[in-house]
Amino acid sequence: MSTDDGVVAAAVDPDVGLPVISGSLLSAARKIVAECDTSAKVRLAKATAKAWYAGRLSLGNLSDRTEMPDRPGRPDKPELLPPRQMPKRTTGGVRGRVALLHSLAHIELSAVDMTWDLVGRFVRAPVPTAFFDDWVQVGLEEAKHFDLLDKRLHALGAAYGDHPAHDGLWQAAQATKDSLLARVAIVPLVLEARGLDVGPPMQASLEAAGDTASAAILAIIYRDEKRHVAFGAKWFRFLCEREKLQPEPTFHALVRQHFRGPIKPPFNDKARAEAGLTPGFYKPLSGVGLSK
Ligand SMILES: [Fe+2]
Ligand SMILES: [Fe+2]
Repeated sequence: MSTDDGVVAAAVDPDVGLPVISGSLLSAARKIVAECDTSAKVRLAKATAKAWYAGRLSLGNLSDRTEMPDRPGRPDKPELLPPRQMPKRTTGGVRGRVALLHSLAHIELSAVDMTWDLVGRFVRAPVPTAFFDDWVQVGLEEAKHFDLLDKRLHALGAAYGDHPAHDGLWQAAQATKDSLLARVAIVPLVLEARGLDVGPPMQASLEAAGDTASAAILAIIYRDEKRHVAFGAKWFRFLCEREKLQPEPTFHALVRQHFRGPIKPPFNDKARAEAGLTPGFYKPLSGVGLSK
């Protein structure tokens, strides 16, 4: 079946049960972001990664005027509320764990859309192909993270969509839609780095509650997210070097210009440093300065 945006999603690969994707990475990324059904979005992300690594996708030629959507396709539920109108999350017991896993599932679904938006929106950027190899991997892993949490919610008698969610992550990403350097600063190096700070305490609280299955999912996500931050740090430095910009002051200026949320401790300095995000990047933005 050839779709109107140039992606060919023919039949299903009998080996993996995924749609066979061919065409361009740009068109495939657009299709993933535009897809409303979450399980179809996950399948498309997996199939696109498979096609990209098999060499079946072009980047998208310069005459391809395909535009990335301003808003991602989403199911009817959850209801999206402005961040300030979000009800306080239930804590404790199964209901508290479900509420936590639901909020994480929403973050991961947002990450799927933000990553494929980065791939599609900046597909014409003058960067090596390795740049797209890295972000296709991230887009695949975000889809897997959502899928793991979605299945875990079902196992606990709940479902993605049961609780309201907010659109803050997508909006934060879209504030950088005109600049690849700003996008790399904000998405992996601010938003995903925050996940390194909050992930281990959440995992510990799930373990303390005896929910080892959920804790194991958080361990996978934490391992992968450290790599996503590392990709961000690597490409941010690459882009700065090419423009003859100093990475740390450039990062500070971009975050102040494009990001309204707080950058606050406690920081997971060890994990951040292992990902290449050294304190000189984030401590001057946090109001606590560099500790001596
Ligand atoms: Fe993730
Ligand atoms: Fe990530």
